[in-house]
Amino acid sequence: MEIKNVCVIGSGIMGSGIAQLCALHGYNVNLVDINNDILKSSKSTIENNLERFLVSKNKISKDEAEKVLNRINLSLNRDEAVYDTQIVIEAVFEDMNLKQRLFSELDAICDRDVILASNTSSLSITDIALKSKIQERIVGIHFFNPAPVMKLIELIKGKKTSDKILERSKSFSESLKKTVVTINDSPGFVTSRLIYVLCNEAINLLGEGIASADDIDKACKLAFNFPMGPLELSDLVGNDIYYHIGEYLEQTLGEKYQTSPLLKEMVKGGLLGRKSRKGFYNY
Ligand code: NAI
Repeated sequence: MEIKNVCVIGSGIMGSGIAQLCALHGYNVNLVDINNDILKSSKSTIENNLERFLVSKNKISKDEAEKVLNRINLSLNRDEAVYDTQIVIEAVFEDMNLKQRLFSELDAICDRDVILASNTSSLSITDIALKSKIQERIVGIHFFNPAPVMKLIELIKGKKTSDKILERSKSFSESLKKTVVTINDSPGFVTSRLIYVLCNEAINLLGEGIASADDIDKACKLAFNFPMGPLELSDLVGNDIYYHIGEYLEQTLGEKYQTSPLLKEMVKGGLLGRKSRKGFYNY
């Protein structure tokens, strides 16, 4: 079953980026959200990004950018939007109940050959699939932000994901010119588990008064050639996001993933990083 039409559910940061990426590679995309203003703002972000990063740098023509944009249809009606698509990519909020319900509903309305993929950054794919009947077609396709730019896709094989679905998902991911690593399902996969541990430990170092935020970041950048220090990164991603990943990893994998007391305090106090203009640094 050749993939031509893609449905992306959730048009926030990730959904918009995934829709843009798929349309750039020739797929027709139905982009779904629950509110028209969100959808419109997503399409205008995509339009601006195409202009700013591709047209103005002569990477694609204005005409091509228009064609890309025209391949993206906005929809508030999920059930209509999945019709005649060969893959559905979910990018709604990081909430297990929401995702389980969404997948069981998609499972009931999509043809049995349709790939149902989640872009979750840490939740177990096996658990997301638990309420669905055909769990073999549920897979994790983990894009990174910004999706059109980042080179990696983590492909997650749930306990019940079939080899055929995994293979088709891999070919699809490669058609987007991404490098794919295949991971057996486990909370946090490889990337979120590793980056959480690094950032959380950096926050522990700060909380224990071992070094200043600036020196911890400087040390990591210069010693390990990281483009960004762990505290800068936590501010960028959102300290609340790492806090929730930590809580989930602790619940599922054990107490060695316990979040740093300082991280907890900061999230409680609304110091979320760039989005609240205050975190480990001021913005
Ligand atoms: P976001 O908050 O920017 O967007 C989520 C969108 O989903 C919102 O526009 C919301 O209205 C929509 N939505 C919620 N429930 C819906 C429903 N039932 N039907 C249709 N739309 C619905 O979130 P973001 O950052 O794009 O994250 C989405 C997913 O991607 C999460 O699972 C997150 O963990 C994952 N992710 C996020 C990354 C990031 O850097 N932000 C990186 C990789 C994965």
